[in-house]
Amino acid sequence: MSSVDSQQRVLSGMRPTGKLHLGHYHGVLKNWVKLQHEYECFFFVADWHALTTQYEDPRIIEQSVWDMVIDWLAAGVNPGSATIFIQSKVPEHAELHLLLSMITPLGWLERVPTYKDQQEKLKEKDLATYGFLGYPLLQSADILIYRAGRVPVGADQVSHVEITREVARRFNHLYGREPGFEEQAEAAIGKMGKKNGKMYRELRRRYQEQGDQDALETARALLKEQQNLSLGDSERLYGYIEGGGKVILPEPQPLLTPESKMPGLDGQKMSKSYGNTIALREDPDSVSQKVRTMQTDPARVRRTDPGEPERCPVWGLHKVYSQDDTKEWVQQGCRSAGIGCLDCKKPLIDAIVAEQKILHERAAEYEGNPELVRSIIEEGCEQARAAARDTLDEVRRAMGLSYR
Ligand code: TRP
Ligand code: SF4
Repeated sequence: MSSVDSQQRVLSGMRPTGKLHLGHYHGVLKNWVKLQHEYECFFFVADWHALTTQYEDPRIIEQSVWDMVIDWLAAGVNPGSATIFIQSKVPEHAELHLLLSMITPLGWLERVPTYKDQQEKLKEKDLATYGFLGYPLLQSADILIYRAGRVPVGADQVSHVEITREVARRFNHLYGREPGFEEQAEAAIGKMGKKNGKMYRELRRRYQEQGDQDALETARALLKEQQNLSLGDSERLYGYIEGGGKVILPEPQPLLTPESKMPGLDGQKMSKSYGNTIALREDPDSVSQKVRTMQTDPARVRRTDPGEPERCPVWGLHKVYSQDDTKEWVQQGCRSAGIGCLDCKKPLIDAIVAEQKILHERAAEYEGNPELVRSIIEEGCEQARAAARDTLDEVRRAMGLSYR
C-alpha cells in the first residue's frame, strides 16, 4: 500500500464556465497560490461538473477550459508546485463515482441543499437529471480518489465536503474490515473493564449513528487513558470507533476560502451574473473605461456637490486597492468637494492596471504558446492518474473487484 499523508494533501476544482474575473483572483486564486507552497496541491478543471448543468450547450466548456487554465497560470499557480489537470482526462474519477454510487443512499443526495437551490435558481434548465443529482457524489469521488485531507472551497460548497465525509465513513465501515477484525476488537473492549467498555460502546454508537464529533474525541481520549491495552488492541479500538479496521478513504475537511472582499463595478459582490466584473486579464484601456463609467454617489450631481464615500461603489474598490494616504485623500476630497470623481478614480485605475501587469505578462507566455499549456496539462494529468490509480486499486480490492 502506498502511503499518503492526507493531512498534507489539498484538492480543489473549478467549473469552466467562462473567463475568470478579479473576484476569483482575490478570493480563490490567491489562496491557491499560497496553499501550493504549504501543501501537496491538486487543482483541476471540473469539466464534467460543468456538463451537469451545461449539457445542452457544451461548446463553451471547451473554450473556457483553456482560458481558465491560462488564468490560473497568470495568477501564479505554478505547475512546478501544484498538479494541474482536467477531470475528464482522469477517468478514474468516474470509476470511483460509480463504485461510490452503489453505497450512497438516494436520500443523502436529495437532501444536499444545492440540489434544490440550483434547480430553483436555474429554472430555465432541466436539472431533473441523474447526473445533476449525482453532482455532489462526483465531487466526493474527486476528493477521495486523491485521499485529500483538505479541500479549499467557498461556503456554498461545504455541504458537498460534508457528504463526502459521510460517504467515506460508510465506505470504510463496509469495506475497511480485515478478517477477524471485529472479534479482535470486541475482545479488546473486554479487556478495558466493565465500566470503560460500556462507555466506549456508548461513545462509538453516538459517533456512528449521529456523527457526533465530541463523542469521537471523548472515545479517543478514553482509549489514551487505558493502561492495560496492548498497542495492537489500542490501534484496533481507535479504528473500531469509526466503524472499520482500516481507513481506506480518509474523511476530508473543508478549508473555508476567505470570502473575497472584492466588490463589483456596481458595489455588489463581483459576479458574472450581475454583469459587474473586471476580467482577470482585462486590457488596461477597458479597465480604465469600466472604472471611469462607474456609478458614484448619486447625491454628487455636480462637481461642486460634496459626496459620501460610504454611498459610492468606487470607495469599495479603494478599500481593496488603496493605501491609507490615498484613502484619506479620497474621504477628505469627496466630502469637501475638493476632488472630482474622475480624480478619485485615477489612482484606482492605476492600481488595478499595475496589479494586472504581472498577470498579463505571465499569460502572454502561454497565450502565444498553446502547446506549452497542453504539455503542462498533459503532465498534470499523468501525475494525477498515477495518484488516482493507487487509490482505485485499493478500492477495487476492498470491494472484491481485483480479479486476476
Ligand atoms: N463544485 C465545485 C464548485 O462549483 C467545483 C468542484 C468540483 C470541486 N469538484 C471539486 C471543488 C472537488 C472542490 C473539490 O465550485
Ligand atoms: Fe465616489 Fe470618489 Fe466621487 Fe466620492 S469622489 S463620490 S468616493 S468617486
